[in-house]
Amino acid sequence: MKTRILWLLLLVPAAAYSDPKTDYLLYCRGCHLADGSGVPPEVPSLINEIGELLTLPGGREYIVRVPGVAQTDMNDAQLAAVLNWVVTEFNSQTTPTNFAPYTAEFITRVRGNVLINPLKHRAALVSQ
Ligand code: HEC
Repeated sequence: MKTRILWLLLLVPAAAYSDPKTDYLLYCRGCHLADGSGVPPEVPSLINEIGELLTLPGGREYIVRVPGVAQTDMNDAQLAAVLNWVVTEFNSQTTPTNFAPYTAEFITRVRGNVLINPLKHRAALVSQ
């Protein structure tokens, strides 16, 4: 009987235990570092910058369409949770008060439209 319960525990998928902080560390830290500071100018900082981008028309989509985000090896729900974690953890000073958390549905709709030239797109975004 006990052995059976142990087998059941082994069958629970590892993803069930994932949390956004762990996922950030696994999938984003390699480039953006654990504290989100990145290695500017090559790897942008995620501290307070993301909150600023969220105030711009198209900014919410841009964040999802950047290759490192759109093509990450996470499902849509996990990715939404990681982005919301990045927003609240690193951008408390700049996030608009009416920020509506990312949802899996939004990620599903937007992530397929990966930006070929993210830097150019960003420049156009901030100069509008
Ligand atoms: C292989 C390195 C790498 C990984 C891994 C990576 N990124 Fe990035 N990220 C970049 C680079 C480089 C840019 C600049 C745009 C570009 O060239 O793609 C960027 C841009 C961004 C931007 C836009 C920032 C801005 O100010 O325009 C966001 C948001 C972002 N990344 C979040 C993430 C998140 C969240 C993850 C994890 C799911 C992640 N990135 C994984 C390298 C990476």
